[in-house]
Amino acid sequence: MNDSFPKIFSLIKDFSGYDFSGYKYSIFDKCLKKRIAATKSKNIDLYLQYIEKNIEEIKQLRNALTINVTAFFRDSLTFEYISYVLLPELISAKIETKNYSIRIWSAGCSTGEEAYSIAMILNELLKKQDSNFDIAIFGTDIDENALKKALDACYSYEKMKNIKLELLNNYFDQQNGVYKLKDDIINIVNFSIYDMLDPRNYVPPESIYGNFDIVFCKNVMIYYQKKYQKIIFKKLYRSITGHGFLVMDKSEAPNPDFNRQFKKVNKYCSIYEKI
Ligand SMILES: C[S@@+](CC[C@H](N)C(=O)[O-])C[C@H]1O[C@@H](n2cnc3c(N)ncnc32)[C@H](O)[C@@H]1O
Repeated sequence: MNDSFPKIFSLIKDFSGYDFSGYKYSIFDKCLKKRIAATKSKNIDLYLQYIEKNIEEIKQLRNALTINVTAFFRDSLTFEYISYVLLPELISAKIETKNYSIRIWSAGCSTGEEAYSIAMILNELLKKQDSNFDIAIFGTDIDENALKKALDACYSYEKMKNIKLELLNNYFDQQNGVYKLKDDIINIVNFSIYDMLDPRNYVPPESIYGNFDIVFCKNVMIYYQKKYQKIIFKKLYRSITGHGFLVMDKSEAPNPDFNRQFKKVNKYCSIYEKI
């Protein structure tokens, strides 16, 4: 770790309330170098002097750190498994036990595509059911700019590349090259700011209580040091209902301390059942 890092962490924290000291130093360093180059600062010390007097640049650095890369149906095999196996089985089990509630959390949802992908497939499946389900999908992130875009639910043509024609027709209105999600999908998802490292609550306050049937936490923990990954993992574990599911990215797996508490449901996807 560079000697200037703690000072930079504290400047960002004072400005935005978020503490990036749990980030892997290699990732923090990479984002920092981008901003050092963008501001034409000669070295990290001069960059530090620059941001001390320039709130706008602190904002830019914070934006660079909250890496928002995401996509609809990112990791297509995982979403296929969820659409054709996991959700149909979950819905049948719910009907059998007369529990007509489905609760889902997209933790680190960025600009909303992950939460909306699950909302669309769930809506498609439930259309075919006689029973009325109470659906609650929560999307949370620390990045308010990303959440604003999620709430806006307007996406470019490039963002449509993983979306099946039927879903595109059913759930989007197209105008001037912008694809706007329809209200019946937007209204299923509740977006809010929530820091996965916030020690005050183990689930987003908007969700009131956890008990999630499925939690997505994809491409978030990879940014954090092991110690912080464990804190996030503990929280996720608590938030999932008995025999609920954790969905991670294909390159991710549960923290080894939780190996006995989760069972991989399919060899091709990073989906784990809480046991
Ligand atoms: C690369 S995106 C992943 C988006 C989506 N889950 C996916 O896989 O496509 C990572 C997101 O995690 C968010 N994030 C990072 N640290 C977080 C934290 N402590 N709490 C909540 N969100 C966080 C970032 O703001 C960013 O939007």
